Amino acid sequence: MSSQEKNSPPQQNSPHSIAEVSAFDLVARVDPHPRLKELREQCPVMYDQTGKTWFLTRYEDVRRALQDKTIARHPALAEKGSFVASFATPDVERDESETRLDSILFLDDPDHTRIRTPFAKVFYPRIKKMQPVIEQMVADVVAAAPDTGSFDLVQEIALPLPIIVIAKIIGVDDNRLKDFREWSEAGVHSLDPLRTPEQTQRMVEGSQNLHAYFMDLMKARKAAPRDDLTSDLMLAQAQGADLNDEEIATNLQLLLAAGNLTTTDLIGSGVWLLLTNRDQLHKLRDDPALAESAVEEVLRMESPAAVTARVIMDERQINGCPMSANQGVLASLHGANRDPDVFDTPDAFDIERKGPPHVAFGGGQHLCLGAPLARLETRHLFTALLEKYPDLYLADSEGAVEWRSLPLFRGTEKLMVNTGSHE
Ligand code: HEM
Repeated sequence: MSSQEKNSPPQQNSPHSIAEVSAFDLVARVDPHPRLKELREQCPVMYDQTGKTWFLTRYEDVRRALQDKTIARHPALAEKGSFVASFATPDVERDESETRLDSILFLDDPDHTRIRTPFAKVFYPRIKKMQPVIEQMVADVVAAAPDTGSFDLVQEIALPLPIIVIAKIIGVDDNRLKDFREWSEAGVHSLDPLRTPEQTQRMVEGSQNLHAYFMDLMKARKAAPRDDLTSDLMLAQAQGADLNDEEIATNLQLLLAAGNLTTTDLIGSGVWLLLTNRDQLHKLRDDPALAESAVEEVLRMESPAAVTARVIMDERQINGCPMSANQGVLASLHGANRDPDVFDTPDAFDIERKGPPHVAFGGGQHLCLGAPLARLETRHLFTALLEKYPDLYLADSEGAVEWRSLPLFRGTEKLMVNTGSHE
């Protein structure tokens, strides 16, 4: 079969729209993988007519598209009315005096490299330097969770951990931590196209407060540097890095927007996978050195970011499908990470799996900046959790697991666990 025949039109039983494989759909919310498999087999390069967006589900197509420097990132370059263009639409009317800057997540070169390079130059050493502090924070969060009975692992552990860790890295003062948590949690609504007006209000206020807080923090650290990321950035700027204060504040906010929910979901899905594959849980409990490869396997099996977007800039073909300039593309990280051409028995959760890398962190120039941090937190979390609760299991109650309804993400909104010990 030629790739043209394979790709168009979708066969009757394969999904015809991106919505059908997203968490908007009640079936796909619980498990998107069977439908993604149908697409990968029957229509690996699907065009969604309603959303005017291409959808890629094969590993090779996804990897190539993400690494291709001639394919752009900024969603405003995508055709009007398409899914991808909607990511660039401002959520709210803004005050005209307010500058709206794009973070590196959406920028193309030369601005992308200009800003990302100095950020990365201080971010990676900062994570390395703070590794012992981060490990201690993970241990403290696990120690504070209930010793006996049932609890929601998302609320008690997976949600607070990434926020307090990034706060420490950035250098948020302890007496502002409560506000910072509130503003950061409100930011999650920005990922929900169906949010209520009240949630939008909370989100906007949170974002404005965060921005103002970061501007103040930068001023304070310029005057009196401390041992934190904000001071590192101020120093880089003073030493000639081509970054202004607004750009720094915008990209500090991105660290929260891109890193908090995704890490929460990596932890939630990871614990769920371990609890529902008890042989793997026992393996990890008996050999904590497997934590590193266990995290990679969770990222492959249930990538927290379901997709990432790009924009085609010229006439071209992907896997035989003709595309034109300004068409948006969604690369399905879920689809790619379970491609049987690349991963043996792709639906099996195997924490000792070896082989090609997954694409859960995207790829090319936009490869996730926070990957080392997410990996570090989750690795230590798995170890600390199984040390404290060697007999942890999924609570035996209706609705113990609830999956998020956010269309571009996958994670547990609620995960009731039982410690295995009784009072
Ligand atoms: C499991 C956790 C995480 C996952 C699955 C994840 C996934 C991703 C993905 C898919 C992208 C887009 C890549 C692309 O389009 O090719 C991205 C970008 C990004 N992520 Fe993460 N992320 C995670 C955690 C974090 C953390 C903890 C931080 C920072 C504290 C972070 C910061 C960023 C930034 C700054 C970008 C933009 C990079 C760029 O466009 O140059 N992420 N992430």
